[in-house]
Amino acid sequence: MAKKYEVYKCEDCACIVMLMDAGSEDLLCCGKNMIHMPEQTADSSKEKHVPIIKKIDGGFEVKVGSIPHPMLENHWIQWIELVVDGQRMLRELGSSDEPKAYFSCSIENPKKVAAREYCNIHGLWRGE
Ligand SMILES: [Fe+2]
Repeated sequence: MAKKYEVYKCEDCACIVMLMDAGSEDLLCCGKNMIHMPEQTADSSKEKHVPIIKKIDGGFEVKVGSIPHPMLENHWIQWIELVVDGQRMLRELGSSDEPKAYFSCSIENPKKVAAREYCNIHGLWRGE
């Protein structure tokens, strides 16, 4: 069963969806089940993907990777998402952007801050 905010990808057309609510059926695209993209949390390869969150004046900065992730035409970070106490914000990136995003946020002392990012090759990653 698909859960709220899970990410799925179609192997054929590369369509990516994020669920805005849970569903009881499999997700289909191009006539096939879509692939669930799990939230990965630990890097083992030399390329680094785990988002790193930093509190800054007026919000947060999220960088992708302890070493900046490459931003190439065939391999890049497609989006970065930040969730602050349930407030969900998303920035889309292009291959010529830096692998980071700034998010304005007026919540002073949040209880929970988490970020996810999506690499077009290595999938979904989460950091807190
Ligand atoms: Fe990657």
